[in-house]
Formats: sequence, structure tokens, C-alpha cells
Amino acid sequence: MSEEPKLSMNEHDEPVSGNAQMPVGIAVVLALLGYIGCTKVDELNANFASNVHFPFGSPIEVASLAPSEEQLIIMRGKALYAKNCMACHQANGGGSGVNPPLANSPYVLENSERLSAILLKGLGGPIEVLGKTYNGAMPAWESTLSDVQIAEVLTYIRQEWGNSASRITSEEVSKVSAKIQEQGQSQPWTEPELSEAFSVE
Ligand code: HEC
Repeated sequence: MSEEPKLSMNEHDEPVSGNAQMPVGIAVVLALLGYIGCTKVDELNANFASNVHFPFGSPIEVASLAPSEEQLIIMRGKALYAKNCMACHQANGGGSGVNPPLANSPYVLENSERLSAILLKGLGGPIEVLGKTYNGAMPAWESTLSDVQIAEVLTYIRQEWGNSASRITSEEVSKVSAKIQEQGQSQPWTEPELSEAFSVE
């Protein structure tokens, strides 16, 4: 067997494996690309704010779209109404049968202390609402709902169905609750007792 003849004197040696460092230039370019990539992802994800997702761009934008405190109260009041009141007073606040309407009712729109008192202690006996006499019984809510919840549901019914009366705060409900306690009213109100305790300005 004779050795293969070299075709040319310029032919390279056979390649061999060994250790050589990556050129510094390439390492720098890769690092730069990685950095730019990260900044881009960061930028598109509102600096990784955990509460910001597409299509929103920044925490400030999200905060500006969040409901106001007033809107939150109405939302909670609406949910409380659906759970506790709607079966009797209906979704449109119009009432039905023995249950009087809340839409446009003077008991809802006028004296807010009287309204809190009705919710806290309940109501029974004949009562005239918008020209019609009702004679049913509404349970007391003071042991089912907190003063905060009573304030929320009352604020809701004062501002829904075309009603537009001021907000009721939980402090006001607590104040009325203390006043009733002092008066010693323990049973649900009747209309004459209510008119005596809470005059309409
Ligand atoms: C079991 C049925 C029932 C439920 C539940 C109920 N009510 Fe009543 N509500 C009545 C009845 C009946 C009257 C009238 C009582 C009477 O005839 O003396 C009344 C009266 C009222 C009044 C005064 C009269 C008027 O029409 O303005 C308000 C205000 C009121 N309810 C609000 C509420 C709110 C708010 C809730 C929920 C937290 C609620 N009610 C839950 C049956 C109910």
C-alpha cells in the first residue's frame, strides 16, 4: 500500500480538535443582544408589574381605570340588595303584593336616619307608600348585616331606579343604632312610632 499522494503542496493539515476561546467581539454582541431583548420584554410588560396585563400598559393606567370608592360602595350595595332585598322589593325596586316600592319612595329618599332605623329594626303594620297602603312585615337587619353593609345597601337604593339622594355612611347607621338603643325600641317599628321618633324636615 502506497501513501496517497498530496495533490498540492498548499493543502492544509487534517483538522484537529482543541480548545480555543470565543472571540471577545462575539461575546460582547451576544451580551448586548440579550440585554436589549430583556429591556424590550420588560417594557412591553409594564416593568413586570404583577397587576398589569395586556392590553394595559402601566400601573398608572390600571389605577386610573379602577372604580372609585363611590362606585365600589354602589357595587357592593347592589350585590347586598340582590341577596337580601330583591325577593320582596324586586329588581326594579317596584315592590309587589304586600311589599312596597323603593323606587321614588319618600321613606327611601327623605330623612336618612329614619331609613337607617327601618333597616335596623324592621317594619310592620299599615304604612302608606306612594298613595297605596301596605300591611306586611319586614324583618330587622341589624343582626344579619353590619352597619357598613346597611350603609352600602341604603346608598345603593337611594341612587338606583332614578332615585337620587345622598350617600349614607356607616357612621350614620351606627349613630342611629345607638339612638334607637337609648330609646329602647326593640320590636320592628310601626309607622306611627317611626313618625314620632323621626320627623321629616
Ligand atoms: C320578606 C320580604 C322583605 C325583604 C326581604 C325586605 N323587605 Fe323591605 N319591606 C317589606 C315589607 C312587607 C315592607 C312594608 C312593611 C309594612 O307593611 O309595614 C317593607 C318596607 C321597606 C321600606 C320602607 C317602605 C318603602 O317602601 O320605602 C324600606 C326602605 C325597605 N323595606 C327596604 C328594604 C331593604 C333595603 C331590604 C334588604 C336589606 C329589604 N327591605 C328587605 C318586605 C321586605
